[in-house]
Amino acid sequence: MPIPSHFNSENVPQHIAIIMDGNGRWAKQNGKARVFGHKSGVKSVRSVSEGAAEAGVKYLTLYAFSTENWNRPKAEVTALMQLLVSTISRETKTLNKNNIRLAAIGDLGSLPRNCQSELEKAIENTSSNTGMTLVLALSYSSRWEILAAIKSLLNDVKSGTLDAATLNETVFNNYLCTKNIPDPELIIRTSGEHRISNFLLWQAAYSEFYFTDILWPDFRKENLWDAVTDFQNRERRFGKTSEQLK
Ligand code: IPE
Ligand code: IPE
Ligand code: MG
Repeated sequence: MPIPSHFNSENVPQHIAIIMDGNGRWAKQNGKARVFGHKSGVKSVRSVSEGAAEAGVKYLTLYAFSTENWNRPKAEVTALMQLLVSTISRETKTLNKNNIRLAAIGDLGSLPRNCQSELEKAIENTSSNTGMTLVLALSYSSRWEILAAIKSLLNDVKSGTLDAATLNETVFNNYLCTKNIPDPELIIRTSGEHRISNFLLWQAAYSEFYFTDILWPDFRKENLWDAVTDFQNRERRFGKTSEQLK
């Protein structure tokens, strides 16, 4: 389905981040095992990536696996990692066709070896694409990211590469996984949960939130466009008064 003509292509967020939630409940509703929900969620990833690119979004970040998700049953973790490997290698062609560049944030070194190499290959093979950047958050959590940034920053202070007196938001940003990515203007969470689950805590300081009851495997590009339309009707004040914005 092409983008509808009534869609307002002005004021589209540069960066949208999505907490893709509800795969397990979707599978349960369909009388299937949880893994079936994860597999079905890949269709949504495809549709939403396409829809975001069509809307003119520059960065789309998808929360695919959190630091805390390592605590799930081993069989589910293994299945998710395998799904990741097969999806990444299968989808590289489509990414190139759509001029999408792949990137990843998180503790990537903690992923299984084959997962890391598929990811590196896909990132390399799509690196010259100039359209949207699709960022996968893998083994990611915000507290992990912030602590890693602080450790690295302290090292630089110790070695004399960084003068502690110059530390400010811009400098700190450069120590985060998202250093070359603007903050998300819009964060979407599916499946009716209203929490952030350790996602982009620093970067979400002024993000707009959009919650929907739709379970991730049922979410499609049309739902993304609805979220963007909702975003366009909000007044982002950044601490100022409404009158100051006029
Ligand atoms: C989101 O769906 C996918 C991951 C967190 C990997 P869930 O697996 O969390 O699905 P629910 O929340 O149990 O329905
Ligand atoms: C958040 O979903 C993480 C991802 C979507 C990858 P969870 O299902 O893990 O979150 P909680 O545990 O319900 O907060
Ligand atoms: Mg969940």
